[in-house]
Amino acid sequence: MLKNDLILRAARGEKTERTPVWLMRQAGRILPEYRAVRNSLSGFKELVETPELAAEVTIQPVDILGVDAAIIFSDILVIPEAMGLTYEMVEKKGPHFPKTVETVNDIQALKVADPTDLSYVYEAISITKKELNGRVPVIGFAGAPWTIFSYMIEGGGSKTFSKARRLLYEDPKMADQLLEMITQSTIGYLKNQIKAGADMLQIFDSWAGVLPPKHYSRFSLKYISQICDAIDEVPITVFAKGAWWALPELANVNCRTVGLDWNMNPKEVKSILTGKTLQGNLDPCALYGSEATIKEATKQMLEDFEGHPYIANLGHGVYPDTDPNKVKYFIECVKELSSH
Ligand code: CP3
Repeated sequence: MLKNDLILRAARGEKTERTPVWLMRQAGRILPEYRAVRNSLSGFKELVETPELAAEVTIQPVDILGVDAAIIFSDILVIPEAMGLTYEMVEKKGPHFPKTVETVNDIQALKVADPTDLSYVYEAISITKKELNGRVPVIGFAGAPWTIFSYMIEGGGSKTFSKARRLLYEDPKMADQLLEMITQSTIGYLKNQIKAGADMLQIFDSWAGVLPPKHYSRFSLKYISQICDAIDEVPITVFAKGAWWALPELANVNCRTVGLDWNMNPKEVKSILTGKTLQGNLDPCALYGSEATIKEATKQMLEDFEGHPYIANLGHGVYPDTDPNKVKYFIECVKELSSH
């Protein structure tokens, strides 16, 4: 039994006694307690692949920050790895794929991820569930197929994602072939996260905003929809960063909640997405401000979402150099200002 199920009730569109709050990328990054665990290991991947420790850093923000949900500590890049494309996490730089997908032959060398490949994630979820003992729900997650595709083609982050985007013009069939494999891998992966105990799921489409609207529908939303249609066990949140033009179409996707980034105007989105819970969308940079500034920005945000089913969050992941005390203050502000 969950003692705090505010976020699940809000996701279902129910009225709650106060607004639930959590932060994208809350596990890790900002907490010294995370870094202590992380520094005792060979690197990021060892932490992701050691279920007891992944569970420990998943729970840290619940204990330290007081958030209303735990998001499982992992990375969206475990899917390409399970498909046969290994990633490295380069210290202070980010992910790097030594081998990328360049030809149809490269795709043929990959496989649809076998659900048993990622058993360390499922184990981390069951340990987390056991240790949380119902204190808050656990959020499972995956990258959207388009965002995963971008990493597999580019081999890492990029300013323009032009290699990934050009393939959509040069060889749409090949693009579909890879996107289809990622989609199938992701469906199996998310279903196993639910079996392991995930109470809700979020799909991160971090690079949604680099696509033109037609390509976004055709090469990203299409596959996100397939995932949402395949899963009806728990509520799903879709976060399509930068894709403001896709909001009307997201109304027809089988998800409960839509995540907004800080470029989106909650007052407008409320009238576009009448049937969905909304999540977001404070500019992560607001947390560099003074306490008075944070309080004012939080108050404004809560007012903007007033009257709509709502989960408070930032408009993207918390930035690594944010002061954890400021994060904690933001969470306290949401709790205090939204209590009726
Ligand atoms: O919320 C959480 O903190 C839970 C775990 C989580 C991580 N990555 C751990 C991580 C989640 C939900 C992710 C998602 C993720 N990973 C996304 C989607 C969300 C977003 O921010 O847009 C993306 C694009 C990635 C890929 C990725 N992983 C990048 C670009 C980087 C490097 C830069 C950075 O810190 O974001 C990572 C590394 C990573 N993933 C770290 C953590 C805690 C930092 C590395 C470390 O601790 O050594």
